[in-house]
Amino acid sequence: MASGRPPAQGSFRLVSQRDRPWDSVCRVAAPRQDIQQQKFLVIGHRGAAGHAPENTLLSVRKALALGVDAVEVDVYFVDGELVVIHDDTLERTTNGIGPVCDHSFDDLRALDAGDGEQIPTLREVFETVDRKAMVNIELKGPKTAGPSVALIEEFVRDAGWPRDSFLVSSFEQEELRRAREADARVRRGLLSSSRWSANTLETARELEAWSLNLALKPAGAEAVSEAHRQGLKVFVYTVNSAQQAIDLELMDVNGVFTDYPDIILHRHQDPTAAA
Ligand code: G3P
Ligand code: MG
Repeated sequence: MASGRPPAQGSFRLVSQRDRPWDSVCRVAAPRQDIQQQKFLVIGHRGAAGHAPENTLLSVRKALALGVDAVEVDVYFVDGELVVIHDDTLERTTNGIGPVCDHSFDDLRALDAGDGEQIPTLREVFETVDRKAMVNIELKGPKTAGPSVALIEEFVRDAGWPRDSFLVSSFEQEELRRAREADARVRRGLLSSSRWSANTLETARELEAWSLNLALKPAGAEAVSEAHRQGLKVFVYTVNSAQQAIDLELMDVNGVFTDYPDIILHRHQDPTAAA
């Protein structure tokens, strides 16, 4: 479920919510100021995948309870529905078999995605988050951009979500292009796992991306500062150690995706991390 083992945690001093001023912004669902204020965002990866079955509502609720700034989930479009699951096959995270897209929505909903949880819909994730955090929708499957952007627009229009509470991201340039066509106002993040190159920046520029969401390896100081020079935010995945998060924060990275939001939120209280 979780990608990678948690590092040794030491004994963290739990800080109160009042110690983290941007939390009040999250709780009352006022217009988000995090990005403008350059807060280092803690993004729950697949919810809080280190604590609960990934990409389930249980995992999303756990991430919210831990106090994340944002939740990241992965989506496919199946049978006219946006479903939240990471792999394009069912075996690793459910008791089902075969490709996700070969199943009907009803079949998918009958599966156990861990601890008795159903595979959720993206709508259920939005309803669960309920403006308590931002949401990053990673477009994994084909043709997910249009329906995802339409759902975002519905929640902006009918439920009063600020549009900048949402980020759609993808490794697939085609999906990001479709997202821009559907509504250019919704923020787009270009995902990259490969070695840093000028091409990545060129692609981000062409897609009018708002952020670069980088794997840990290519996220060096040069990559971060070049992306910033181009006006892009930089988020890094998947960061499960306090020390790594501190190093990235010092590099001016804008936030990290983590399976263990508690570790990253309390990174400065980790006695094994050099602040
Ligand atoms: O969006 C960050 C991260 O989720 C990308 O990789 O494979 O965990 O979806 P993956
Ligand atoms: Mg993902």
